[in-house]
Amino acid sequence: MAASCVPIFIVLLFLSSFCKSDDDTLTQAKPLFSSDKLVSKGGDFALGFFSPTSSNTSLYLGVWYNTIPARTVVWVANRDSPIAASSSATLAITNSSDLVLSDAQGLASWATKTNIVAGGAGTAAVLLDTGNFVLRSPNGTYIWQSFDHPTDTLIPSMKFVASYGAQVVGRLIAWKSSDDPSSGDFSCGLDPTSPALQMLIRNGSKLYYRGVWNGATVSGGTYSSNDDSIVYQVNVGQGGEVSLTLNVSDGSPLTRIVLEHTGALTIVPLSAIAIAPVQHMLIAV
Ligand SMILES: *[C@@H]1O[C@H](CO)[C@@H](O)[C@H](O)[C@H]1NC(C)=O
Ligand SMILES: *[C@@H]1O[C@H](CO)[C@@H](O)[C@H](O)[C@H]1NC(C)=O
Ligand SMILES: *[C@@H]1O[C@H](CO)[C@@H](O)[C@H](O)[C@H]1NC(C)=O
Ligand SMILES: *[C@@H]1O[C@H](CO)[C@@H](O)[C@H](O)[C@H]1NC(C)=O
Ligand SMILES: *[C@@H]1O[C@H](CO)[C@@H](O)[C@H](O)[C@H]1NC(C)=O
Repeated sequence: MAASCVPIFIVLLFLSSFCKSDDDTLTQAKPLFSSDKLVSKGGDFALGFFSPTSSNTSLYLGVWYNTIPARTVVWVANRDSPIAASSSATLAITNSSDLVLSDAQGLASWATKTNIVAGGAGTAAVLLDTGNFVLRSPNGTYIWQSFDHPTDTLIPSMKFVASYGAQVVGRLIAWKSSDDPSSGDFSCGLDPTSPALQMLIRNGSKLYYRGVWNGATVSGGTYSSNDDSIVYQVNVGQGGEVSLTLNVSDGSPLTRIVLEHTGALTIVPLSAIAIAPVQHMLIAV
């Protein structure tokens, strides 16, 4: 009897070591390698390495929806410095509590700059269920978060700090094309000098579109599934900080605001319930 228990014990250990690769946390002792990914606790988001197309096998570190079969990337770390296809990637935590993405030769292609000089051994990087990838110090403080560094996409619960006083802080920058995450020509931010919170979309340095955030609902929106299912909230905080948060109630379809590579700013509902397709949120002025 006792002898038959031994193989079962071994099988369980083997399974638990497989599960580790789907963890939501990276530590200094456990870096992330090319074929690994982190999956947020509730399974909503994944963080890992992707190549944009089958013909472009350069590696990018990104966050995508884990629940959608077609890979839908919402954040990219090294958009303008991919890791060569012939190499491999490692994401690790340094002794100075920074995240560093490097290739097989140890050459860094992307890194955070926390300005913390120690504590790396106790620092953890966690992919949260909101899609936020955070670097957490031993005392629990977030010392860096991907939500502070948006690429082309806003997702619910992300606080997009658009301006501070007269200073433009945050900007969405579109992908170069639908399968090239590098910084494209289109960018989008608030005009801090306009009282009505005008939004500017630029094509390079040229103004392409100017519009206003028109209240709490999408212009022409038909979010009929739930009256309060989609709201973006503009907050004017202390010191003149203007931020925008997309707020979706529980049970709503996955929703995001994307600055497309074509220059269109769209709200994309990703599941097929009774919702109008992509809406332009801007009123041309
Ligand atoms: C993939 O595309 C990026 C951006 O255009 C480029 O820098 C990189 O060299 C390409 N990689 C390959 C393997 O074609
Ligand atoms: C990081 O700290 C550990 C422990 O103090 C030390 O052994 C290691 O060499 C350090 N690594 C680097 C890259 O400085
Ligand atoms: C927590 O740790 C961070 C970085 O290690 C430090 O800057 C911060 O002051 C600490 N906060 C508290 C409340 O100890
Ligand atoms: C954006 O600007 C470029 C360069 O001036 C131009 O070729 C392109 O047509 C513009 N795109 C749109 C959509 O206007
Ligand atoms: C988001 O919506 C929920 C429920 O509709 C509400 O309780 C919460 O305060 C809202 N949060 C923000 C930041 O607007």
